[in-house]
Order: sequence, then C-alpha cells, then structure tokens
Amino acid sequence: MTQSAEGVAAAFPADTVTRPSADPEIPAYLQQVYWWAYLHPNAVRLFEREWLVNLILWGNFSRLRDSALAELDASADQRILQVACVYGDFTQRIGDRLGTDAMLDVVDVAPIQLANLRAKLPADARIRLHRQDSSQLHFADGDFDATLLFFLLHEQPEAVRRATLAEALRVTRPGGKVIIVDYHNPRYSNPLRYVMKGVLKSLEPFANDLWENEIADFLPAVPQPAALEKTTCFGGLYQKVIITR
Ligand SMILES: C[S@@+](CC[C@H](N)C(=O)[O-])C[C@H]1O[C@@H](n2cnc3c(N)ncnc32)[C@H](O)[C@@H]1O
Repeated sequence: MTQSAEGVAAAFPADTVTRPSADPEIPAYLQQVYWWAYLHPNAVRLFEREWLVNLILWGNFSRLRDSALAELDASADQRILQVACVYGDFTQRIGDRLGTDAMLDVVDVAPIQLANLRAKLPADARIRLHRQDSSQLHFADGDFDATLLFFLLHEQPEAVRRATLAEALRVTRPGGKVIIVDYHNPRYSNPLRYVMKGVLKSLEPFANDLWENEIADFLPAVPQPAALEKTTCFGGLYQKVIITR
C-alpha cells in the first residue's frame, strides 16, 4: 500500500511533532501485514474505539494498561518514552500522571498514528510526539527513566524486534525500567489458546514468536539487565516484563 498518510503528516503543525533529519520509511511489515490496522485512514476510524480495543483484548484493555502504568513513577522530573502509539486512552492516562517537570515522549513511524494521537491529547508542553522508527531511535543513551512497549513486539519481525529492544535498553538510563506488555503463550487449560492461535496465525504472523520464546531471548548480549521480572495474566495469554536496566 502506498503511504497515503503522508498528506496527514503535513496536516499537523511542525512544532507539535519532531522528525529526525530524514523521515523513516514505513517498514515493509507495516505496509504489507498491518496496513488495515494502522496505516489506512479507515483503520483509525474503525479501531479508535476503546470498546473495540477492549474486545480484541478479551476485556483486558484497562487491566493491561493500568498494569503498565503502575510501573511508572511519572512524578517529579521523570522522563518517559512510549514507543508506538496505542488506540484508546493509553497516552492520555500517562499524561494524567505526569509531574510538573516530567516529560513524555511518544514515538511512532506512521504519520497517521501521530496525527490521531495528537488529536486525542490536550495541549501539553510536557508531551512530545516524534516520527521515528523504534529500531533506530534518535535519542541519546540513557535519556529516559522509563520506556514503554505496549503490544508492539508481537507485530514486529524478529530482526526488528531485536533492534527495538536494543534501542529501548540503550535510551533507558541504568537503573531505569523498560516496561513491556504483550502476548504470551497461554496455558493449555486456557480455552482461548486455540482461538488465539488461529487468530494470530492468520492476522499477526510474527506473534507466534512470543508464544515460542521468552522476550529475554530477543535481548542484546550487552547491556545485561540488572533485573528481569515476568508476570502473566488471563490464563497466561498476556505477559508483563519489567527489565531494570
Ligand atoms: C503499539 S502497536 C499496537 C498497539 C495496540 N494493538 C493498539 O491498540 O494500538 C501499533 C503501533 O505501532 C506502530 N509501529 C509499528 N512498527 C513500528 C516501528 N518499527 N517504529 C515505530 N512505530 C511502529 C504502528 O504504526 C502503530 O501505531
């Protein structure tokens, strides 16, 4: 699909979105596999409904969102990075928690997603949007106290997923947290295991990697995390991984 969203990029003022000197390409997997979910204007019109996102997550959206947010200390002067936009109120909820001197930076590679997020947010100088690729972030080492990856990794081919994780670790300061929420291999006793296997196989071809492997398997050799804690919920269908850098 051609990136018809380019026109959308021009529609939001330059001072509300920063771009590196060369705009990143829309990755091939997004264009080929996920155009219907994130790139087509009808996708935003269809999916920007919290009840629908909640339905896709079997009623767990707020639970998963709040579980990620509970890991944040957004008070004081914390600097937080959200890698990739999310349908629903994920970013607004982070914004609600920001202390006066805290900052939230949000990165996405798709202009249409950034425009959609901008329209959902109140004017707030503490929240900045950037058009960047998660596998090649334009931030300095250790810039952030916490970095969030919410349901991004299962959408990425392995090489991109590895690069995204390496970049998330790089831009998070030593002692800071990388907070990941995503799919996980459910227990055999979970009846949704069999439904989701089919759904993910037909719609999300890279998601099976998160069923077959631990997220830790995709981490770079360096830096070694100070700690890694994994919890699962909803019969093991979802996981939260907290990496302390
Ligand atoms: C976070 S994931 C899925 C989140 C969740 N399913 C939801 O409700 O939106 C979707 C976002 O990731 C973005 N994305 C995918 N690959 C990316 C990449 N390499 N760099 C930056 N953003 C990316 C897409 O443009 C899309 O906005």
